[in-house]
Amino acid sequence: MRILVTGGAGRLGRSVVAVLAARGHDVASADLVPAAAPAAASARASAPASASGAAQADGVTHITADLLDDTARGDLFAQVRPEAVVHLAGIAVPFARPDTEILAVNTRLAWAVLSSAVEHGARSAVAASSPTVFGYGTPDWRPRYLPLDEDHPRAPRHSYGLSKLIIEETARTLSRARAAGCTLTSVRPGYVIAPEEWAGAPTQQGHTVAERLRDPELSAVALFNYVDARDAAELFALLCERSGAATGGEVFHAVAEDALALAPLAELLPRFHPGTAPHAAALTGRQGAFSSRAAAERLGWRPARTWRTELRGPVPEAP
Ligand SMILES: NC(=O)c1ccc[n+]([C@@H]2O[C@H](COP(=O)([O-])OP(=O)(O)OC[C@H]3O[C@@H](n4cnc5c(N)ncnc54)[C@H](O)[C@@H]3O)[C@@H](O)[C@H]2O)c1
Repeated sequence: MRILVTGGAGRLGRSVVAVLAARGHDVASADLVPAAAPAAASARASAPASASGAAQADGVTHITADLLDDTARGDLFAQVRPEAVVHLAGIAVPFARPDTEILAVNTRLAWAVLSSAVEHGARSAVAASSPTVFGYGTPDWRPRYLPLDEDHPRAPRHSYGLSKLIIEETARTLSRARAAGCTLTSVRPGYVIAPEEWAGAPTQQGHTVAERLRDPELSAVALFNYVDARDAAELFALLCERSGAATGGEVFHAVAEDALALAPLAELLPRFHPGTAPHAAALTGRQGAFSSRAAAERLGWRPARTWRTELRGPVPEAP
């Protein structure tokens, strides 16, 4: 399939591009910034940029474009004519920029890209949402139950989480125009760990994986969730390839089955999130706080990697 990935130069996007290309798709990646040569996991050599601003590497076309620019976006869709779109571009970190900017950029981008996918005849489009739609992170947060699945009520508490909730609703809104023949879905990836981060590169929040394991306070912010970028990429690929498995508007979690923690969550969660105490005992052994049941049942997706198989170097000792 011809697949357009927005935000393809980013932490998750690099793996999505590499996984789609490895599965034999014709991939175009569009991003504000050019793909870094070693980071495009499958790229061996970059050809010089053409007059159109596109560069080829290992069969992937990397296009530098601002997707909020209507002309640039129109040209991009006319050039690529994607059969499927994976929309990852946006501001990916809560509080990284002023609240109004996060809300405006993420929601405008989602409407612009997803509606362009519909208008240009794509059969499917899948957008990156986030587990932060559940609103955890403040001491008074109380889940209705654990693990958190796709049906748990959403109640974001910052502009990034709200922007992701609006992105999910954008996919739902455009799905109602199903006459257009495009199935739109959303994926909530856990805290994404890119391949190089298992070997010690800093993760999104600046700490290494080993540091996040050693100091539970760091991972507690995300309820100890995580996912290997390549595993999450496989779910995005499945949603492109088997769009008929969804009816449109659905949300799928892409989260590792275990927790990014040395101790069981039944013990750790109530320590850092007192409001979880009534439900934390439901989490047994190494079980994480999130379930990816919908992706398992509908698409047969299961994360293949855990920190126990991927972390390079010594496993930190429990404090
Ligand atoms: N990293 C995580 O832990 C995580 C977890 C859940 C959800 N997500 C979501 O997944 C997506 C990808 O996250 P990531 O960690 O790879 O982020 P990232 O910041 O590494 O990548 C996002 C990319 O989007 C690009 N972009 C931003 N504005 C753009 C525009 N106007 N036009 C074109 N490109 C633009 C950026 O240049 C960047 O390369 C985001 O939507 C993020 O919110 C990430």
